Amino acid sequence: MKIIVGITGGIAAYKVPQLVRLLVKAGHEVQCVATAHALEFVTRLTLETVSGRPLYSDLFAPSNDHTTEHVSLKDWGDAMVVAPATANVIGKLAAGIGDDALSTLLLAFSRKPLLMAPAMNTQMWECPAVERNIAYLRSTGVEMVEPGTGALACGTEGKGRMAEPEEIVEALNHLLRPKEVMPLWGKRVLVTAGPTYERIDAVRFIGNYSSGKMGFAVAEALAAQGAEVELVTGPTQMVTTTAGIHRHDVECAREMLAEATRLFPSCVGAILTAAVADYRPEHTVDHKLKKQGDEGMTLRLVQNPDILATLGTMKQAGQTLVGFALETDNEETNARGKMERKNADYIVLNSLRDKGAGFGVETNRVTIMSREGEAYKSALMSKREVADLIVERCLLK
Ligand code: CTP
Repeated sequence: MKIIVGITGGIAAYKVPQLVRLLVKAGHEVQCVATAHALEFVTRLTLETVSGRPLYSDLFAPSNDHTTEHVSLKDWGDAMVVAPATANVIGKLAAGIGDDALSTLLLAFSRKPLLMAPAMNTQMWECPAVERNIAYLRSTGVEMVEPGTGALACGTEGKGRMAEPEEIVEALNHLLRPKEVMPLWGKRVLVTAGPTYERIDAVRFIGNYSSGKMGFAVAEALAAQGAEVELVTGPTQMVTTTAGIHRHDVECAREMLAEATRLFPSCVGAILTAAVADYRPEHTVDHKLKKQGDEGMTLRLVQNPDILATLGTMKQAGQTLVGFALETDNEETNARGKMERKNADYIVLNSLRDKGAGFGVETNRVTIMSREGEAYKSALMSKREVADLIVERCLLK
């Protein structure tokens, strides 16, 4: 295929020759387009050598055949990758501004597959204007391969490192996979993951040991089938850079409920893996509670909303609702009761009596129970394999 690689001015530009090399090795023709700032970080000679084609970077260069290179390149390219994508180029595209070779080409390219690999300092990544621009571009079909977390060139730690060239190639392959082999292509699916933290005071909360691994594996399995995944997750160490997974971070059950009910109506289904706290403290305080002395302390808890049951009441024809159940005894009877009470179509049952299943471990063994009375028992598998099985049995039938 013919791939245009757009490069903007961030330190991660030094990784782009490696990206271009991987694309060429995979059999693609690559045309590099760089901003003036990008050429402060990576040289024209390097980009021209690895791509084997002259670099395009100056709208009005005498060497251009004409000054409509951005239009002819738009026709030439099958897909475009911008790596690294600075806050600046993201903002310009979101606002429809074309003031140099790359930004004019991006405007012209708007109907073709576009992948961006943002890279910037953590505070810039979290700036509300940048978040808005990214959300807007995503809503127009631009894929983002999310930055990773780690040491940044500015000397700080945090989210903002450009995804590795291998991850960008994988995201591009995902974007370019023929739609007909992806059964969930263009379909949106909601996933909840991780624990919830229920606040007690300024420094304490009630939580649980859920790692988020199962939920993130389900999100990856859905994305591999082409789905647009809305991943609503409680606090977790998990990261994902997969194109097609849109992450919404929440802390407590009520925030998770708000996000889930907002997103569910546009989805064909929901898979709720989150270990939602059933109760939260009745009162929270903004300061740190002091010790109360010998007589101890009583914390009154009130019930949290049930997200699965709420989605069960909202469910429309054509939507599939999948819940999880973690049981220790009378497993199948309890799980079936849960499925009916919460109006789910499937319940994925985890038994804590199974070795290798449950929180924190890499593996799982489940029973997938359907409303029609089926109960499919899996072998002990990796969480990702279990996730593939759940997607296949619940959403691809
Ligand atoms: N769940 C939810 N909201 C809650 C509690 C649970 O969405 N407040 C979802 C979980 O994500 C899971 C399913 O409901 O998909 C089952 O959760 P579980 O805690 O096992 O069930 P409970 O209804 O809490 O039943 P019990 O505690 O009696 O086992």
